[in-house]
Amino acid sequence: CGIVGYVGGQSALDVVIAGLRRLEYRGYDSAGVAVLSDGSMAAAKKAGKLVNLEKELDGRPLPTGSAGIGHTRWATHGGPTDANAHPHLDNAGRVAVVHNGIIENFAPLRAELAERGHTLESETDTEVVSHLLAEEFSSCGDLAEAMRLVCRRLEGAFTLVAVHADQPDVVVGARRNSPLVVGVGEGEAFLASDVAAFIAHTRSAIELGQDQVVELRRDGVTVTDFDGAPADVRSYHVDWDASAAEKGGYDYFMLKEIAEQPKAVADTLLGRIDGGGSLRLDELRIPDAVLREAHKVVIVACGTAFHAGLIAKYAIEHWTRVPCEVELASEFRYRDPILDQRTLVIAISQSGETMDTLMALRHARAQGARVLAVCNTNGSTIPRESDGVLYTHAGPEVAVASTKAFLTQLVAVYLLALYLGQVRGTKWGDEIRAVVRDLARIADDVDRVLETMEPVRELARSLADKDTVLFLGRHVGYPVALEGALKLKELAYMHAEGFAAGELKHGPIALIEEDLPVVVVVPSPRGRSVLHDKIVSNIQEIRARGARTIVIAEEGDEAVTPYADHLIRIPATPVLLQPMVSTVPLQVFACELATARGNEVDQPRNLAKSVTVE
Ligand code: G6P
Repeated sequence: CGIVGYVGGQSALDVVIAGLRRLEYRGYDSAGVAVLSDGSMAAAKKAGKLVNLEKELDGRPLPTGSAGIGHTRWATHGGPTDANAHPHLDNAGRVAVVHNGIIENFAPLRAELAERGHTLESETDTEVVSHLLAEEFSSCGDLAEAMRLVCRRLEGAFTLVAVHADQPDVVVGARRNSPLVVGVGEGEAFLASDVAAFIAHTRSAIELGQDQVVELRRDGVTVTDFDGAPADVRSYHVDWDASAAEKGGYDYFMLKEIAEQPKAVADTLLGRIDGGGSLRLDELRIPDAVLREAHKVVIVACGTAFHAGLIAKYAIEHWTRVPCEVELASEFRYRDPILDQRTLVIAISQSGETMDTLMALRHARAQGARVLAVCNTNGSTIPRESDGVLYTHAGPEVAVASTKAFLTQLVAVYLLALYLGQVRGTKWGDEIRAVVRDLARIADDVDRVLETMEPVRELARSLADKDTVLFLGRHVGYPVALEGALKLKELAYMHAEGFAAGELKHGPIALIEEDLPVVVVVPSPRGRSVLHDKIVSNIQEIRARGARTIVIAEEGDEAVTPYADHLIRIPATPVLLQPMVSTVPLQVFACELATARGNEVDQPRNLAKSVTVE
């Protein structure tokens, strides 16, 4: 979910609505606002996207207000209805609360409130908070104090923002687990799940830590822990501006972000190689001695980041000879994984907020493992709670389906793999220099792929009425096939599956029927040429059974030509680097199919970009 709070001289309603627009990627099941003006509270909320709320406000305007809060929801407790939308008010309509997370003990709290005569109107866990806050406020008369008292009673993961009509110049926030950032302006202050919500007003930000409460007033911000003790705050300057979070002429953020990939790749390499060609990853914060000692690498991640991890395994094991496991973060801690001080865990996350990944890294650290985050969001929870971090410099990624972050995750983990090789002495000078040179060329290769995408778009449009598309790959092309299938599911809502091409004959080949589109990612004919020849046979096998073959192959690879119904060319790259170019046509393919099927590209149904619940 996305949350916004504002107090200051501007129209709170306008600031909050504009903030919500920037946060809609975090969930769009419903939206709502509450504003305070002249000692009274006015609220509006609506199921569906923000535009529904805006229409509602056009017909029934709210006062502009001096303080306000807003929410855009990804439903957990209770379906996406008007009643379940946030904010939630107490019975007297004096307190309004928005919430991100899950309050695990809401059932007993609800029963307790009902016993004391409260009427709860929604099915959400959030509503209990507004009632509890109202009760506490009536005895202490201070919203921040009431919030601290309530937070001490809550279990689970929650980030809350509240206003009270009796304190019209105050907004209070509380944070446990899911993100909350404070923006400090001149005579005004902001609260939001992500700096994007207030970047148009101020670039001065404060991260709230775990279990902290913040009180926002026009003239300043006070942060304490849940017991009221003043907290240390870390302020920082946001180094990108509002235009980075805008579409810049593209129809969708996803198209813009696909186009930004060459720059994102180049930016992620920037400053990490010294004049002598050695890698310098100063921000890692994990001593070389620890990296030298590591006897196992475990990667944890979700969704697209998990696919980046699957690909990284090939590079890490090949370059460092350290065994590497890759695991879905949501599965990791429940199987009692074997971890010790010599295990290096890499947590990959674009947002740095994914709860599954956060819980996996906490589990790993509790077992003594060192955790290194690969993350795109400065100061987010996952890097904060890790021993070290390597930032990807993709810039803000807004479209729910990840594109440029994925490519930069690959670059970052490859740098990490090379660095591990460097400190362990398994990969030396010239070799590292050669790979880094190849990596530096990838940005241009991606550019070239992007220039030749029109036939891919045309092909996608021609497949708009299909039900299923299969994806095959081998070696590093296998996770690429998984990613191609994921993109299609997310965006086109089609049945899509990725398989290791060699596994085809052990079952999936039964799915092949006349005219079924099958995308095949063909490994480089150099280096792993045996695999190349094998996949050419696989293509023949499926074609013989009627499949329509869509073949992604390197320029100059003529062996595939006779068996390709559609041929998509990518530049020749070293074997391990191919995913950075072969993924790009799959992104374009899924994006165009989504458009052709009339789907919302940036905000696919049921999804959210940053999933802050487990
Ligand atoms: C969500 C998004 C996916 C993303 C995954 C991991 O499910 O819809 O696109 O890959 O989270 O996100 P992270 O921010 O941890 O990389």
